[in-house]
Amino acid sequence: MSGGQTLDVTVTAIEQVTPLIKHFTLARPDGAPLPAFSGGSHIIVVMRGPNRVYRNPYSLLSAPQDLGTYEIGVRRMEESRGGSQYLHDVVKVGDRLEIAHPVNLFPLDKIARKHLLIAGGIGITPFMAQIEDLRGGPVPFELHYSVRSPEHAAFAARLAARAPGRVQLYYDSEQRFIDFEGLLSNQPLGTHVYVCGPAGFIGKVIDTAKACGWAGSHIHWEQFAAPPAGDAFEVTLAKSGKTLTVPTDSTLLEAIEAAGVEVPYLCRGGVCGFCQTKVVECDGELLHHDHYLSDAEKARGKAIMPCVSRARAQRLVLDL
Ligand code: FES
Repeated sequence: MSGGQTLDVTVTAIEQVTPLIKHFTLARPDGAPLPAFSGGSHIIVVMRGPNRVYRNPYSLLSAPQDLGTYEIGVRRMEESRGGSQYLHDVVKVGDRLEIAHPVNLFPLDKIARKHLLIAGGIGITPFMAQIEDLRGGPVPFELHYSVRSPEHAAFAARLAARAPGRVQLYYDSEQRFIDFEGLLSNQPLGTHVYVCGPAGFIGKVIDTAKACGWAGSHIHWEQFAAPPAGDAFEVTLAKSGKTLTVPTDSTLLEAIEAAGVEVPYLCRGGVCGFCQTKVVECDGELLHHDHYLSDAEKARGKAIMPCVSRARAQRLVLDL
């Protein structure tokens, strides 16, 4: 996928569901059904601001069986480069947005005998749609959802209604924390665990599962890296013959796109590997922020994921 393939949608509802999270409902302007998706899918929302274009990934939280609308939950990220702030502060009901077709990089395993879903904060969103896929089906599942306090528990009432008895909430403010070791050391054979949330939360689940003897193939996680801002730097695109500056608050990928050069992408969060780009020359340091390249590949410095990574160099040349 690249920047060309998008659908027009209208924002049909916006609801503030926690102090930090807004819930957006999107529909096709002509009311036609939206493309099919499965639980765990995300879309890229394209926001054309006056001075720049934002393209941010958001998990679909609506029921995959209902293609009349898509729903996303957007957490305001104060430290972000502006995409979530644009959705929170600028976008209103009736506005048009563009979205890319859904892609699922966090699917439920088809032969799991049980699904153990663990969410931290805004990491609840992919599980909302997965629960719609799972409820009423033959495979048991349970969801453990950790938030800082009850007012931050987005969609808790909806979850309780959709999956009664299957959802357990944990509040930091009440000293109610998930007992990861107890949970992960006491699951039936064939269980798959899925985790989404902040990096430290995901790391804790993965480390605990491994320590409890879980096979890596049964551990699934999703964390789109929020592309960090950084110092501006210059990049030369060898094939296109262009040299451009990547501003502080733009990603390398956004700067390349703004120069009219297309790079394939799926996640724009350092996960899928689609945007991997060959580094022809770098006289400084590549600042890798992705979850895709191995440590050895990062150390070799021959590839970069421009959706999240940057450089600190006088001269950076990419094979584009
Ligand atoms: S678009 Fe997925 S890693 Fe860059």
